[in-house]
Amino acid sequence: MPFRIAVIPGDGIGPEVIEQGIRVLEEVIQHTGAGLQFKTYDLGAERYLRTGEVIPEPIFAELQSADAIYLGAVGDPRVKDPQYAARLLLRLRFELDLWVNLRPSRLLAPGLTPLRDAASIDLVVVRENTEGAYVGIGVERIQRYAFELARQRRQAGHRGRVTMVDKSNALYHAHDLWQRVFALERQRAPEIEAEHLFVDAAAMQLVKDPGRFDVIVTSNMFGDILSDLASELVGGLGQAPSANINPETRRGLFEPVHGSAPKHAGKGIANPVGAILAGAMMLRHLGDEVGANQIEDAVMAAARERRTTKDLGGDLTTTGAAEAVLQRLERIRSSSARQPGDGGRITSRRRPPRAGPSPDLLGSEDPWKEARRHRHRPDHAGG
Ligand code: NAI
Ligand code: MG
Repeated sequence: MPFRIAVIPGDGIGPEVIEQGIRVLEEVIQHTGAGLQFKTYDLGAERYLRTGEVIPEPIFAELQSADAIYLGAVGDPRVKDPQYAARLLLRLRFELDLWVNLRPSRLLAPGLTPLRDAASIDLVVVRENTEGAYVGIGVERIQRYAFELARQRRQAGHRGRVTMVDKSNALYHAHDLWQRVFALERQRAPEIEAEHLFVDAAAMQLVKDPGRFDVIVTSNMFGDILSDLASELVGGLGQAPSANINPETRRGLFEPVHGSAPKHAGKGIANPVGAILAGAMMLRHLGDEVGANQIEDAVMAAARERRTTKDLGGDLTTTGAAEAVLQRLERIRSSSARQPGDGGRITSRRRPPRAGPSPDLLGSEDPWKEARRHRHRPDHAGG
């Protein structure tokens, strides 16, 4: 049975970038064997303006039972009601209890960083995503997740270091909890390198020495700000992907970090890379590590050749940039076909898993088997 992917193209440039993301996913899964079945939902500003509905209940039930949600962007200047985005995107994040927000920033090509001499940037912001809905549990589980992620990244050849970021010197009531949990998690995982930074110092260090960071774990608001900063260090919002997941229920919503960029909508100039890389994160979450790596390698190769949209220094349209990735994918596949026995990997170089590994999926012989086991999960209570 294929995984059921609920697609919400949404507003502005959302539909344009999601269309290209699906093209790339469809191409990859043809060869890796991952079964995905897409169902597109007409949700967003058009529907809201037409009917007043944000997510009708029967559709919400379908979204809840999908194996993953692939979303473009939400936001339209014609909709003045500030509750609109909350009733769409925040409702999904909260009611599906997608408490981890992963925002990786990886330098795709050396020329894309505005920094003078940053040779390599490859970090992931782990952002607490349910905003104090369950404050105590929230802080503990997000920090534990970050330590687990650091452990996995270390095994895969990364530094494997956790930087916990808060503002406990000023917000000493709210953030004292972050400190107490951090002390406990450090004790639980003494083998993981861990450090603490106040958020202002973290912002400074990100610009001064981004290579020192591997896994940054922080609160909702600081995660939002630091991840935008980090994405700018590697080329900007247009290429930044994100995953909202619940590692226990295995539910997930995958989206580019950027919003609906209304001024770019309909012009065919939006960068599809954030959406394409979010698709790769979704594939990895569902167990297709090979497919995810292929997409990421193809995106990097296209970026190195500057076969990108304008924001990444190229001159291609949205469609053209996706086609550059598709062409690279083909080359990656034909070269891996010439090297039998490497599990479809592109090169013999060790490929670290990108952000968003599902701890229970790593290391299993047949990733699909393990992923499928989770398909029949208990229904979430919601709220
Ligand atoms: P935005 O991310 O939509 O755009 C900011 C600027 O970044 C754009 O003007 C553009 O210059 C650049 N940009 C963003 N994505 C790009 C892409 N794919 N290719 C090329 N350039 C790109 O943020 P903004 O302008 O603050 O918000 C616009 C709307 O989107 C608002 O309604 C906002 O609420 C909503 N929004 C939705 C998000 C979501 O759906 N997760 C996240 C952030 C904003
Ligand atoms: Mg943001």
